[in-house]
Amino acid sequence: MQERIDALRQEAASFTITNAETLEAYRLQFMSKKSVLNELFEEFKAIAGDQKRLYGQPLNQLKQFIEARFHEQKEVLENVQQDGGSELDLTLPPQPMVLGSRHPISIIRQEIVGFFERLGFNISEGHEIVDDWHNFGALNFEEDHPARDMQDTFFVQSNPDILLRTHTSTVQVKEMQLGNLPIRTISPGRVYRNETVSARSHMQFHQIEGLYIDTHVSFADLRQTLYLFARHLFGEDVRIRFRPSYFPFTEPSAEMDVSCFICGGEGCNICKQTGWVEILGCGMVDPNVLENCGIDPKKYSGYAFGLGLERMAMLKYQIKDIRLFYENDLRFLKQFGSVPPTR
Ligand code: PHE
Repeated sequence: MQERIDALRQEAASFTITNAETLEAYRLQFMSKKSVLNELFEEFKAIAGDQKRLYGQPLNQLKQFIEARFHEQKEVLENVQQDGGSELDLTLPPQPMVLGSRHPISIIRQEIVGFFERLGFNISEGHEIVDDWHNFGALNFEEDHPARDMQDTFFVQSNPDILLRTHTSTVQVKEMQLGNLPIRTISPGRVYRNETVSARSHMQFHQIEGLYIDTHVSFADLRQTLYLFARHLFGEDVRIRFRPSYFPFTEPSAEMDVSCFICGGEGCNICKQTGWVEILGCGMVDPNVLENCGIDPKKYSGYAFGLGLERMAMLKYQIKDIRLFYENDLRFLKQFGSVPPTR
């Protein structure tokens, strides 16, 4: 038996493999059910127990050798193909390229930004690390104003004047200071708040800010724009309502609700049985803010609004845990805006 093992090893080692056909021939000859190797194993089963110990190991080693050579040669051939070697068959269809899918936050951002672009808004962005003045001071948050506590801020330890922006309203300030009037701009971006991470809140999220400054801008303009926006996102039948609210940088201020797009206003879990879902904060830019940023409040007026993208995506796709957006779990991500494989 040992002789036949040696002979077979010799034969397998010297078998010439140059292309896919000879590789297949090798597989059939040495690795298939009808191979000599298989025969040897069959015989091995039948031999007496004390001899088993003698041949078991060499037989297994032979099998490993044969298989290893197969895989090694297969890889060599594949590499040759990739290198444009003689085995390259240009008539073969290419491997389909599987593209990823768009992140739900990107989808919502694009939808919102696209809508406002069509209304003539441009896109502006700003820094994520800003000074106190851009995040608070210019926006009418006085030094000891309790509203500063509403936004749990991350300050830079060595310089508490520098912080991670808590809202995209900082971009308003920058745009107004640039002073290219009229201003009609939309600013998407990431914001940070020192909140405990849970299913409902995170220390980083995304907002979109809208700002319109011109002569004779009124609350009616704000209302009309936001109504069109809500119809675009939630459909023709949506109703909107404004509730009085407070932001230091707008006067009057409001929060806008839309009629629940899940139950149509009947009352369900999403709207907590109220028939309404809150989607954004808004108001007329406070004259102090215009003045702080070098715009004459006697001549100009404007409106601003801000909304959270995670919140919108959670409502739209009924996602129950905000943390899912940042975990990069493919099982989650694949469910949104997938792009079909291309050839
Ligand atoms: N910046 C506010 C927030 O983050 C939202 C807002 C923007 C409100 C613009 C009014 C006007 O809560």
